[in-house]
Amino acid sequence: MDLPIAVWDNRRLSRESDVIQTACELLYKQALVEIQGQPVGTLAAIPRSIRRGLDADISEPDLNYTEIFIRDNIPTMIYFLLDGRGDIVRNFLNQMLKLQSTKDETAGIFPTSFFEENGRIVADYGQRAIGRVSSVDATLWWPILAHIYVQHTDDQEWAVSEPVQRGISRFLNLILHPQFHDVPTLRVPDGAFMIDRPLDVWGAPLEIQVLLYGALLSSAGLIRKALSARGLVSMPGNRLAYLRQPQGEDARMIDRFRRTLAWLRRLRRYLLTYYWVNATTVQVLRRHPTEQYGDLIANEYNINANTVPVWLQTWLGRDGGYLLGNLRTGRPDFRFFTLGNCLGAIFGLLGRTQRHALFRLIYQNRDELMAQLPMRICHPPLDGVDWENQTGFDQKNVAWSYHNGGHWPCLLWFLVLAVVRNQQECQDSLEGSKNREFHEVMMMTLEDSYKVLLKRLPKQNWPEYFDGPTGLWIGLQARSYQTWTITGLLLTQRLLRGDPSDAAVMDMPNLKDLHQTELPDL
Ligand code: GLC
Repeated sequence: MDLPIAVWDNRRLSRESDVIQTACELLYKQALVEIQGQPVGTLAAIPRSIRRGLDADISEPDLNYTEIFIRDNIPTMIYFLLDGRGDIVRNFLNQMLKLQSTKDETAGIFPTSFFEENGRIVADYGQRAIGRVSSVDATLWWPILAHIYVQHTDDQEWAVSEPVQRGISRFLNLILHPQFHDVPTLRVPDGAFMIDRPLDVWGAPLEIQVLLYGALLSSAGLIRKALSARGLVSMPGNRLAYLRQPQGEDARMIDRFRRTLAWLRRLRRYLLTYYWVNATTVQVLRRHPTEQYGDLIANEYNINANTVPVWLQTWLGRDGGYLLGNLRTGRPDFRFFTLGNCLGAIFGLLGRTQRHALFRLIYQNRDELMAQLPMRICHPPLDGVDWENQTGFDQKNVAWSYHNGGHWPCLLWFLVLAVVRNQQECQDSLEGSKNREFHEVMMMTLEDSYKVLLKRLPKQNWPEYFDGPTGLWIGLQARSYQTWTITGLLLTQRLLRGDPSDAAVMDMPNLKDLHQTELPDL
C-alpha cells in the first residue's frame, strides 16, 4: 500500500496553490531524470524509492514505469515549454533523435520509451513491450513536438539543422511510399498508441490518423523553414527570383514537401468524409444500399445499417458530432475515443462547426465522460464475448477498467486546451449567439472537472487511472504518482487560470498557408 508521507499532508493540500506547488515539486524534483548531467525527460511514474528520498532502485524495476515514455512526456514537455524550460524539451527531442532507428527494417521509427542503465541508453521499440505491441504514436509525436518547440522558442537554428531535417526525412520515408491500399490513412496493429493492449483498435484507429495529420503538418512546417533558409522558397506575397535550379538534397526536400502537402490534403478530406459522424451523416449512412460495385458509389465501405449501434441516437442527439473510432470495410467502430477527438479539434482537423458539435456532444454526455473523474478514455467499453474475443480475456482491460472505459485524469487538459483555443479563435462568432451561452456552460463544466481533480488526485496519490462506470474507484492496477496525472493537473490549471496566449502552444502550421508556398520547379 502507498503510505502518504509527511510532505503530502492533506491539510496542506486543501488550498489550490498548495496542490499546484506540490505537483510542481513532484515533477521537477522527483519525476525529472538526468542523463549525463542533463535533464531529458520524466519517469512514467515516480517509484516509492525516489519518493522516500532514495536513489531509483533499478534492480527492482516497477515493470517499465520507471522508463521515460515518449507519449507520457508530451504533456510534460508542453508544461516545460510554458514554464520557460525549452532547454529540457530540446534535450528530450535530441535524445529521441539519437534513438531514431536506422535499421533497414524499422528505419525512421522512434522508441516508445527509454532509460539509462550503467551509462548506456536502452530503448524499447516494441521488442521489450508487454505483448510485443508496436508503438506508432511515439514516432508521430516527435515531429509534432519538434514543431511545437520551434514555434514556442523560435529556435530556428535547431529547426533547420541537419540532424533535425534528417530525422524528418527518415520519418516521412515511413509514410510517403507506395502501399497496397490507396488510402491516406496509416494502418497499424492492435495497441499501437496510448491504448497499448489489444482492444480491437487495429487497422486505422482515430488517434493514429489524427496524430498522422499533426505529424505531416509539423513536418511540412519544419521543411519549409529549411527550404527558406536555403533560399529555395518565398513566403506568400514575397516572390523570389530563383537563381539556381535545385539539385540533390534540395530537390529531394522540395519533392518531399510537395508530397507531404498532397498527402495532407487527401488525409483531411478522407477523415472528414468517412470519420465524421453526426445525426445527419448517420441517417444517410443507414439508408445507403449495400453490395455496390464500381467507381461512383455511395457506400464505399459496404457498411450495413445494423452496424449503427442503438446507443448512438441519444449519444449524438440533434446537435452532437464526433470522429468515429476506426473505419474498416463493413465494420466502422462507433466507439468514442477522447484523445483522438480532442486532438482533432486542437490540430485544426475539425472546422469551427464540427468543433462546436464535438463540444456539445461531450457536454450532453458529461455524465458518462466526466462522471466522478474526468475523463473516460473511450465509450462504451467492450463487454461479454466482445471482450473475450477482442482482448483475449485481458483481465486488466475488463469493462469499465483501464483502457476499456476507464477514467484517466491525464486526458482532461487536452479538452480544456481544445475548448479554450476554440473560444479564442471564434471570439467574434461567439458574440451574442447561442454558441456563446453554450461556451460559458462548457467552461463551467471544465472548471468543475478541474476542481474534482484538484480535490481527488493529491489525496489519492496521483493515480494513473480510475475504474467503474462513474470512475469513482482508483484503478485496480493503477500506479501511484503517475507523472502525466501530475502534469495533466498542472496544465489544466495553467490553461484555466494563466496567460490566455498559452492556449496557442499546440497550434499547427496552417494547411492553406503551406499550400501557398512558392517553390522552384524541379
Ligand atoms: C501504460 C499505458 C500507456 C502508458 C504507459 C506508461 O502502458 O497504457 O499508455 O504510456 O503505461 O505510463
